[in-house]
Amino acid sequence: MKMSKKSLAIISVFALALSAPAFTADDDDAEDSEVVESQAVEEAADEEVAVETEEQEPEVAEAPETPQTPTSGKDIAAGACAGCHGADGNSIIPNFPSLAGQQEEYLLKQLQEFKAEDGEPAVRHSDAMTPMVAGLSIENMEELAAFYSSQEATPGQASDNENLVAIGKVIYHGGNIENGVPACASCHGPTGKGIPPHYPALAGQHAPYTLMQLDLFNKGERTNDDQVMQQVLTRMSGIEKQAVSAYIQGMR
Ligand code: HEC
Ligand code: HEC
Repeated sequence: MKMSKKSLAIISVFALALSAPAFTADDDDAEDSEVVESQAVEEAADEEVAVETEEQEPEVAEAPETPQTPTSGKDIAAGACAGCHGADGNSIIPNFPSLAGQQEEYLLKQLQEFKAEDGEPAVRHSDAMTPMVAGLSIENMEELAAFYSSQEATPGQASDNENLVAIGKVIYHGGNIENGVPACASCHGPTGKGIPPHYPALAGQHAPYTLMQLDLFNKGERTNDDQVMQQVLTRMSGIEKQAVSAYIQGMR
């Protein structure tokens, strides 16, 4: 009891000293400092500092660093993710997905599935994303998902291949009865905003990224979809994949 009170007193001396603008290195000795006024502090300085300087130093040195705010999802996004996904989650690189306005549950699911856990391999594979999620806790992931889903998606740029876009529009909203491709709208919504919690937004996404995902589902290299997208892709032709990707990029 006695000890810890004094330790506290000593720490508060240093805390005061560090926060006092006029305090200089020369005033190192607590007894000389004008800052030191209270009896408890004087007592601590007299009796303890001389005896326990060596033991106390490391503790005291760390004291000013403890009240740091924990790193937020927004800080992580700005530091580690912005280079590829854009500061606000609107990626300007066609192969890197935009995340702004994406469904929160979907984002969290993807972040968890990029990460290998308990010796099990990751459910979704990506050379770019594997190292990105390795150090993230579940709390970090939740904050990142909340951050990106709350950002506003900038409207996608329509592809100038009008014929392709026209074919894509038909497939997106009506599917293709000939080969049994279902309408994308039935799960991803008529405006492409997705339906929480399971169906991601697609509207405005870069066509090259969408096409890449469709190919990954098709080849069985992306398998975190409970077979749903893999089933859809067994029926789609190459031109249909390109067309629907082009249409999605221009959706608002
Ligand atoms: C070096 C570039 C790069 C960096 C940095 C990066 N990502 Fe990614 N991210 C990618 C690529 C590429 C993909 C697509 C992976 C695939 O399916 O092949 C992706 C996919 C994702 C997805 C899935 C999107 C979807 O629509 O399914 C999420 C979520 C994501 N990244 C979040 C993050 C977060 C959070 C960070 C920072 C901690 C981050 N990324 C850092 C390149 C990057
Ligand atoms: C029966 C429901 C269903 C239908 C129909 C469907 N999807 Fe999906 N789609 C899903 C689900 C569920 C996911 C999320 C998988 C996951 O959790 O990773 C998904 C994911 C995707 C993704 C990956 C998104 C990303 O950001 O990486 C793309 C692209 C996609 N769908 C495109 C399409 C297209 C194009 C069509 C129409 C040809 C279509 N989907 C039809 C259910 C569906």
